[in-house]
Amino acid sequence: MSNYKLIDFKTLGDDRGSLIAIEEGYNTPFEIKRVYYIFDTQKGVERGFHAHIGLKQLAIVVKGCSTFILDNGKERKEIKLNNPNQGLLIEGLIWREMKDFSEDCVLLVLASEHYDEKDYIRDYDKFLEEVRNDS
Ligand code: TYD
Repeated sequence: MSNYKLIDFKTLGDDRGSLIAIEEGYNTPFEIKRVYYIFDTQKGVERGFHAHIGLKQLAIVVKGCSTFILDNGKERKEIKLNNPNQGLLIEGLIWREMKDFSEDCVLLVLASEHYDEKDYIRDYDKFLEEVRNDS
């Protein structure tokens, strides 16, 4: 499946601990206009259930773990994120769902655009229609 990529970040560490730096144009391929994070997710909660028309996002589980389901209208893929040195880059028309958040999960997302509800496709059938129009 194209439109997504796992990126390995370089961990800068010493005997005090670890540090990862994310810099626009260096290890994230878009201009970062927005940052948000999801935490304290309640047991059994599933989030997402939408696609974006133009937004690019880089998701990093900086603490704990959670599972992403990515769907391009033809196939679905499950990706477990449990490592702060890995980022999931999602570009283009992909339906995403997130589940199995650990109690301590902190999911950080870097986004290429400001929040805009008009960029969301929240209806799965509409998403499939967009995929058909796109190909
Ligand atoms: P929602 O889209 O339901 O989150 P998820 O896709 O993770 O399930 O967003 C929850 C609420 O937060 C919703 O009212 C929209 C708002 N929101 C913002 O105001 N700014 C943002 O950057 C994001 C991601 C959400």
